[in-house]
Amino acid sequence: MDMPVNLWKPEYLLDIDIIDEQHKSFFDLCLNSAMLCEAARTKPIQLHDLIHVIFNMRAYAFKHFYTEETLLLKYGYPRIYGHASLHDIFLRTLQEFTAELHEHLAKAQTAGPEAFLANATRVNDDLTNWWGEHILTADQDYARHIRERKGQKT
Ligand SMILES: [Fe+2]
Ligand SMILES: [Fe+2]
Repeated sequence: MDMPVNLWKPEYLLDIDIIDEQHKSFFDLCLNSAMLCEAARTKPIQLHDLIHVIFNMRAYAFKHFYTEETLLLKYGYPRIYGHASLHDIFLRTLQEFTAELHEHLAKAQTAGPEAFLANATRVNDDLTNWWGEHILTADQDYARHIRERKGQKT
């Protein structure tokens, strides 16, 4: 994988400051995780560091989805439950990833880290791509709704 310097792109901006900051921060975590997986190809890494990033991703995803869903409720977004179930799909992937990590650690004495790291790289790419796609489609849709709502009030 070619290492991008920054996974965030200007087209991800929704012009809602707290959301834009959280979107950027999650991309930073994806980048950290991708860099650790990449580094592991040439030298041993501390699995502890990767686990820490994965736990950060879990916490951050929950925090971000809570922020977003609360905002959608506040602005009466009509597709809120469909949007929340998209978030659930992402959370399920993270849960599966955590379960794989658990499985890997349970047999760490006998299995090398290669298989887990290859899988971690793939899952990380999937999560990063999902995050970007979701912002460009579903998140942009609610941002339009909020802009219209705000426009009606002024
Ligand atoms: Fe979002
Ligand atoms: Fe979202």
